[in-house]
Amino acid sequence: MNVIIDTDPGNDDAIAILLAIASPEIDLLGITAVAGNVPVAITSRNARMICEMASREYIPVYNGEDKPLKNPQVTGEDAHGRSGLEGVEIVEPKFPPESKHAVDWIIESVLSNEGEISICAMGPLTNIARAFEREPRLPEMVRELVIMGGSKFQGGNITPMAEFNFYVDPHAANLVFKSGANITLAPLDVTFQARMEEEWIHRLADAGDIGKFARDILMPSYRFNSERYEGEYAPLHDPFTVAYIIDPSLFKKRPVRVSIETESPLCMGASSIDWWNVTGDKPNCNVLSEVDSNGYFELIYQRVKSLDNK
Ligand code: BDR
Ligand code: CA
Repeated sequence: MNVIIDTDPGNDDAIAILLAIASPEIDLLGITAVAGNVPVAITSRNARMICEMASREYIPVYNGEDKPLKNPQVTGEDAHGRSGLEGVEIVEPKFPPESKHAVDWIIESVLSNEGEISICAMGPLTNIARAFEREPRLPEMVRELVIMGGSKFQGGNITPMAEFNFYVDPHAANLVFKSGANITLAPLDVTFQARMEEEWIHRLADAGDIGKFARDILMPSYRFNSERYEGEYAPLHDPFTVAYIIDPSLFKKRPVRVSIETESPLCMGASSIDWWNVTGDKPNCNVLSEVDSNGYFELIYQRVKSLDNK
């Protein structure tokens, strides 16, 4: 399946990229970088570094939007470190980003492959919103847009009400959910169901250099999350988007109406997920609600391991 990854690596983004690269079900057409966990120059550098490390320097990386549509920029160095990939040595990639802007490339690619491209969006939705804004035919031409973001009943992780990706660019998220695109959403409620265990993270190191890299970026994230959530949760958010594309049978989902708050300071970026259809509004999205947690972690482990032999 043809896939574009839109991303802000980010430790969990990095694992999602590795999972995609390692998976024969996915033909990764390119990676579009967006500002999010760290500024866009760094997310682009990190995406290229990950591809290079996995000997996939032929995967094109496009630099995208450097700030949200309207709100001031917010980054996530507390969770991902100043480099975005805390825990590993940063090696400047040898190959540069493509000269074309990410938004132009997304538009061109989808227009010339109508109904054939799925997009995994795992950062703020700024690039996707810009592309939809500029080319209104685009939403219905995307095969599927799989998004990590938002929260159903869980509460937020950057404010008590909002999840990071939607909080950083709520106007972009709002535009995307109103676009009519075929959307599947992995909110915090489902990503919190899959708890990374320290033993699993260490097991990754058996999977060669790439496995060690994965372990080294996940350990700081594990510690950060364990401390913040008092040992209860250690989520690995972004690979949900890719795992869903590879094996949707790992998940349960329900079609519901999702809307994003863009005005209230207290609830900025909060997602209203109408789980019980109390509004009677037509669903605009499938929301993932349950995951086979063992299956999810085993998939990632096996695929990362397979990279070592290639
Ligand atoms: C999301 O926020 C980012 O920090 C992660 O990379 C993930 O995309 C989780 O809320
Ligand atoms: Ca991310």
